[in-house]
Amino acid sequence: MLVAPSILSADFGNLSQDVKAICDGGCDYVHVDVMDGHFVPNLTIGPVVVEAVKKASTKPLDIHLMVENNNFFIDLFAPIEPEFISFHIESERHANKVANKIRELNIRPAVVLNPHTQIDSIEYLLQDVDMVLLMSVNPGFGGQKFIPSVIERASRLKELIEKRNPKCLIEVDGGVNKQNIELLKNAGVDIVVAGSYVYKHPDGIKSAIDSLKV
Ligand code: DX5
Ligand code: ZN
Repeated sequence: MLVAPSILSADFGNLSQDVKAICDGGCDYVHVDVMDGHFVPNLTIGPVVVEAVKKASTKPLDIHLMVENNNFFIDLFAPIEPEFISFHIESERHANKVANKIRELNIRPAVVLNPHTQIDSIEYLLQDVDMVLLMSVNPGFGGQKFIPSVIERASRLKELIEKRNPKCLIEVDGGVNKQNIELLKNAGVDIVVAGSYVYKHPDGIKSAIDSLKV
């Protein structure tokens, strides 16, 4: 299992130290939650801060857009050269066009589904993306409770991926911890995002990351 800690649970007063801590703790990606205050009821960070995250990080960035205007935000973040940019299917009428635009910018495109969006609705988009991110909470905030139906959803997605684009990765985001990591692994999940579990673990960041590497 690859681990992408979410910096949403970091101390923003000590952001560069908190980014270094997850990198030193052995994370695979640094997950960056971009919220616009419209698509989700929360507002986070823009390119000025993400540029600082990039400087502090020794690992590639995984940018998760929770925004209404995907094109605008893709142009804003592309110069920071993240590994992935993911956009929500619920906010995009021209998903295939947006995925191709991200790829033309030399960034790996990913599509995100909210907990109640039909998996089968993206079957014909799978050939255009390198990753599908399944939300296991309603996006907007860290520290929410894991919605267990994501396990069944990941298994269904895995079937479609085998058929349409076997290289496509599955990522799950929200409420991930030691209690659900094995179930996620068995369902075919490749990468987990974890915010509060990693930053608030009583034994420290490194043990938290290690415990998710199943
Ligand atoms: C939620 C964000 C998540 C969040 C995860 O909208 O997309 O990345 O930070 O936080 P935890 O792991 O605390 O649920
Ligand atoms: Zn996220």
